[in-house]
Amino acid sequence: MSVLPIVIAPDRRLKFRCKPVDAVNDSVRAKLADMLATMYDAPGIGLAAPQVGDERRLIVIDVAREDDPPEPMQIVNPEILWVSDAKCIMNEGCLSIPDVYYDVRRPEQVRVKYLDETGAAQEVEADGLLARCLQHEIDHLDGVLFIDHISLLKRNMALSKMKKLKAGEARNRPVKG
Ligand code: NI
Repeated sequence: MSVLPIVIAPDRRLKFRCKPVDAVNDSVRAKLADMLATMYDAPGIGLAAPQVGDERRLIVIDVAREDDPPEPMQIVNPEILWVSDAKCIMNEGCLSIPDVYYDVRRPEQVRVKYLDETGAAQEVEADGLLARCLQHEIDHLDGVLFIDHISLLKRNMALSKMKKLKAGEARNRPVKG
């Protein structure tokens, strides 16, 4: 398992429309394992393939509380089957947009079908943090970021903050001689 570099917005790789996986094989399982390692290292509660520059419909999630044992979910080809009419507002962040948090309104509950890491079909009905995380990560697979759900003004503020962050990192990069 390796910790992969996380793609920071704005980046065209975060705008990918990811492709469904044909078969859950060892290459898919290896990528999911790397994504879990990357997510735990960050640390975060969810990570989607485009965030590590991969164009496949893969997600990892773990919304277990810090004191509880880990509950990793490895999700292939997720599809939202149903969303509740009821919506709620939660504060969201994203590993590709570090230190930016905004309230986002989304459906409160969702039902999602997917394949797990063994290729078995699964279906989950979720509310709370898991429902939120599933929607945020599935959005990533279609090139949608959480800041695409907020006002243009706030989105531009977030993106200019990321541009400054990236410019700063480029300046601080050690000179190799
Ligand atoms: Ni995200």
